[in-house]
Amino acid sequence: MLTQQIQLTARPDGFPKPTDFRLVEVELPALGPGEMLVENLWMSVDPYMRRCMQEATLDQQPWPLNGPLNGPAIGRVIESKNEDFKCGDLVESLSGWQRHFATDGGLLVPFESPFNSVVKRSLQGVSPRDYLGLLGLASLTAYTGIVLGNTCQAGETVVISSGAGTVGSVACQIAQIRGLCVVSSAGSDEKVRWLTDAFGLDRVFNYRKQPIELALASLCPEGIDLVLENAGPEHLSACLPLMNELKTVLISGLISTYSTGGKIRSFPNFEFVLDRFLTIRAYRYMDFLQSYDVMVNDLLHWRDEGRLLFKEVPYEGLEAAPQAFCSMLRGESYGKPLIQISVD
Ligand SMILES: NC(=O)c1ccc[n+]([C@@H]2O[C@H](COP(=O)([O-])OP(=O)(O)OC[C@H]3O[C@@H](n4cnc5c(N)ncnc54)[C@H](OP(=O)(O)O)[C@@H]3O)[C@@H](O)[C@H]2O)c1
Repeated sequence: MLTQQIQLTARPDGFPKPTDFRLVEVELPALGPGEMLVENLWMSVDPYMRRCMQEATLDQQPWPLNGPLNGPAIGRVIESKNEDFKCGDLVESLSGWQRHFATDGGLLVPFESPFNSVVKRSLQGVSPRDYLGLLGLASLTAYTGIVLGNTCQAGETVVISSGAGTVGSVACQIAQIRGLCVVSSAGSDEKVRWLTDAFGLDRVFNYRKQPIELALASLCPEGIDLVLENAGPEHLSACLPLMNELKTVLISGLISTYSTGGKIRSFPNFEFVLDRFLTIRAYRYMDFLQSYDVMVNDLLHWRDEGRLLFKEVPYEGLEAAPQAFCSMLRGESYGKPLIQISVD
């Protein structure tokens, strides 16, 4: 059968543009024994994909030029020769950026992670998009940073960068639920207002309008006990002089470096790591997937209780995915971009 997929046609320098991608028709071979055909319903675009656009990255498989891309997606089995999956099953995979795909249900991409297989998803009361949104990798990253990787006690101060981003906004709310004192930053007054009005945060600043170090100094009079770093080395460096002894920086990602080649040429204030006996640790949600059920229960419970707000930015049609991705990297909107490929 014929289907459509988005391919990468050029490796961009700087911020990617929708024209770095193209929508093509491809022929899927007939299903072999043990295979199934999946129709994708929703896909997600995420910052790590910017690194996949480069030829050489240290921890991501680069995307091929003019070939299929990968990314989180949720779809429905529409034909099956696999006894473990039947027509109608909802499955989560890393086979986004395409309308249909065929699989034997095994590993789809060569990363070491349980998230790589096609996984059945059938929680009561959870919509397909929730698996990529509320329960998707950004929320799991926020949860693992604040709950599982956190070394803070209630009342202590956590600084979360990119507070209006998906990881950031979920992390801010989970930190509030756990009684931490939350300080956060965002890139526009509108985003700052959203964090203040929607979540009741009272220590938020626009990092484009004032020096980060000065803003943090006035908002963290008791010092900083935990940093959840989403943004980049500029923000992280500004936190270090304010950190209390023996505290931790958790790095979920450094998005400001992704479109500039990923190199960090200087790291101001690094001496405070030694002076304050700090721990700096990069982490990934995949290493905590043994706690997937607990995380999902908590996230759903908090959402249903009205304590966790999850904002989505829906886009319609597979062809909208490149625009959604490029806009997200530029911070042009806030909330989780989710692309609807087919009707649920
Ligand atoms: N470790 C993991 O397992 C994992 C999983 C998911 C995500 N992450 C990481 O978590 C971070 C946030 O991801 P997300 O999915 O929640 O994306 P996001 O925050 O929803 O979207 C990206 C945001 O980054 C900010 N940004 C863009 N360029 C920036 C720059 N040069 N300096 C500072 N901020 C910039 C923009 O917000 P402003 O307008 O406020 O600047 C933009 O809205 C990323 O670093 C990502 O790599 C890690």
